[in-house]
Parts: sequence; structure tokens; C-alpha cells
Amino acid sequence: MKNLLFATLLIMMLTGCNNSQSKQDTPAADSSAAALEAIFTRTSVRSYDPDRAVSPDTVETLLRAAMSAPTAVNKQPWAFVVLDNREALDSLAEVLPYAKMLNHAPLAIVVCGDMDKALEGTARDFWIQDASAATENLLIAAHALGLGAVWTGVYPDSERVEAVKNRLGLPSAIIPLCVVPVGYPEGEQTPKDKWNPGAIHYNRW
Ligand SMILES: Cc1cc2nc3c(=O)[nH]c(=O)nc-3n(C[C@H](O)[C@H](O)[C@H](O)COP(=O)(O)O)c2cc1C
Repeated sequence: MKNLLFATLLIMMLTGCNNSQSKQDTPAADSSAAALEAIFTRTSVRSYDPDRAVSPDTVETLLRAAMSAPTAVNKQPWAFVVLDNREALDSLAEVLPYAKMLNHAPLAIVVCGDMDKALEGTARDFWIQDASAATENLLIAAHALGLGAVWTGVYPDSERVEAVKNRLGLPSAIIPLCVVPVGYPEGEQTPKDKWNPGAIHYNRW
């Protein structure tokens, strides 16, 4: 009888099935709430505090988040160029008409596809989805860290792709997907409410 009681208690502890703490209070529930909060409140930020730099540790965290993204066949066909000096940031602003905020950003990360690591044949274009997933991770991580960032499009605009390749001296196998300026936000940002039940279909159109 004593053994049975002990076994029951052990199972309850291992499965988290006890009445003294509800599921809502668990660390897992806290971290899912934090993850969802970051996703729901992220918004594009185009103005940055000119006096606050982004530390190298924070840059690494952003890159770790980007590289945690899923990729087709786990190819991870990406490369990242970190721009953290004024000359490099201003040089890209010159050639990207919709990324002028680079002139005021302390940092930018160029998310690229690496065609030497990409799948072959018609599957090659999965790199675009892979690098996009990395970019979204980067944006959410930046927001979760109190930073602001914005996706500025490069690929598939061939003029922008060539301009970024030239300015950064990218090897031929490297295609820039986007440039993400990053900095501590200046001013308040309001996330857009994009929830639209009309865009959802169940089981068939
Ligand atoms: C593929 C893509 C390209 C984008 N290009 C630019 C750009 O060149 N410049 C810019 O300021 N914002 C750009 N954006 C940001 C969008 O304007 C922004 O995500 C959209 O308006 C929704 O706003 P939100 O990010 O605040 O939710 C781009 C976003 C995506 C996904």
C-alpha cells in the first residue's frame, strides 16, 4: 500500500499533475505568453534612438534567432552580412529607395540566400522561404529584446539585388533577400490589427 502511494505521488510529480499549481502558473505557460506577446505586438520600426548602439551580444542573439528558423531539407541555405559602421549603412541607403532609414540606424543585417547550399533544380527557390523564415525570426527577436526593426525588400527586384551585391562585394552565389535596419525605437509604435476571419477557409475553399 505504501509503495502504491509513493508510485502515485511520483507519477503526479513527473506529469505535472498536481492541484497546488494550475497549468497557467507554470514557466511553460509564462514563456508561451511571452512568445505570443512578441508575435502579436511586433511592428515595423523605421526611427531609431541615435544615441543607443546595439551590443555585439545582442547582434549574436538576433543571428541565433534567425538561424533557428526551419529550412527545406534542413539546408540552412543562408548567409548574413552585419552592417555596423556608418559608411556601410549609408552606402546601402544610397541604392535602396525604400530603405532610407538606414541613414539613421546603428545596425542592419542583410539576410542572403547562399546558392552553394541551396537545393537543386526546381527546389532551389525554397531558399526564398528559408531566408524569409529567418528574417521573421530576426524581426520577432529584435522586438522581444526591446529593439525595433523593419524588413526592407531587395530580392526579387533585380536592380536592388545588383546594387546590394556591388556595394557589399557579395560572391556570385550569394543573393540578398532583404536588408533589416535595427535600432532602439524612437517614439511609440502601434501594431496593426490584421486579424481577418474572412481569409480563413476550412477543409476546402
Ligand atoms: C517582402 C517585404 C518587403 C518589404 N519592403 C519594405 C521596404 O522596402 N521598405 C519599408 O519601409 N518597409 C518594407 N516592408 C515592411 C512592410 O511595409 C510592413 O511589414 C507592412 O506595412 C506591415 O506592417 P508591420 O510590419 O508593422 O506589421 C516590407 C515587408 C516585406 C514582408
